[in-house]
Amino acid sequence: MVEVENLTKSFPAARGRPVPVLRGISLQVPPGQFLAVVGPSGSGKSTLLYCMSALEVATSGRVRILGRDTGGLGRGAIAKLRRDHLGFVFQSYNLIPSLTARENVALPARLARRRISGADVDRALAEVGLAERASYRPSALSGGQQQRVAIARVLAVRPDVVFADEPTGALDTESGAQVLDLLAGVARSGQDRSVVMVTHDLEAAARADRVLVLRDGVIHRELISPRADDVFAAVAGAS
Ligand SMILES: Nc1ncnc2c1ncn2[C@@H]1O[C@H](COP(=O)(O)OP(=O)(O)O)[C@@H](O)[C@H]1O
Ligand SMILES: [Mg+2]
Repeated sequence: MVEVENLTKSFPAARGRPVPVLRGISLQVPPGQFLAVVGPSGSGKSTLLYCMSALEVATSGRVRILGRDTGGLGRGAIAKLRRDHLGFVFQSYNLIPSLTARENVALPARLARRRISGADVDRALAEVGLAERASYRPSALSGGQQQRVAIARVLAVRPDVVFADEPTGALDTESGAQVLDLLAGVARSGQDRSVVMVTHDLEAAARADRVLVLRDGVIHRELISPRADDVFAAVAGAS
């Protein structure tokens, strides 16, 4: 679904040489996988996610999304690829305060001038357990509920890959667990959808099928279906 080859990313420094953040990352996200990338704050997780999803241009290396080399695509083609095939969930829910949950869920499709039926919207809200709150505005919803609306908004457009940046960052443990269940469910729906989540929350990462530990701009460890303890140990550099 997503293939990253020898990706590097540097940011210009105030003075002197550019600062390398990603220093040669290669990874593949197969269909149906829930992949987590962990690392301490500032380790480059968001930068990796943005480069992987073509929100940001890499300094060097290749990013292929659904078989398409994003380096060879123009801005318009990338925007279309993102709109038609990718979904994004961020720590902040980015809901429009004046719109109801239902209207928020329908908004991306409307903006893209794509037809979205009321049934599609209601199904997405039901999938996240918020059918009853479809006519609530964000201010009448808890943080966890707002994040679930944000996930419904993603599900409504049936993306092939969902990218999540610290999706549980602002949530309590229980709401966070619900959000993680939903993300895991997206990958396990049997529809070849993949989820890529970056997080500093090691417990959250342990919910994924595969965990990559980012350190000093490279992938330091890879864990398959780890327990939380395994993730803690890998991040601490033990074992
Ligand atoms: N647009 C930018 N310009 C300059 N430096 C940046 C930019 N974005 C991120 N960085 C730097 O890159 C490093 C990694 O940032 P980030 O990817 O946000 O880390 P994480 O998500 O793991 O906390 C940090 O040192 C950050 O200051
Ligand atoms: Mg980040």
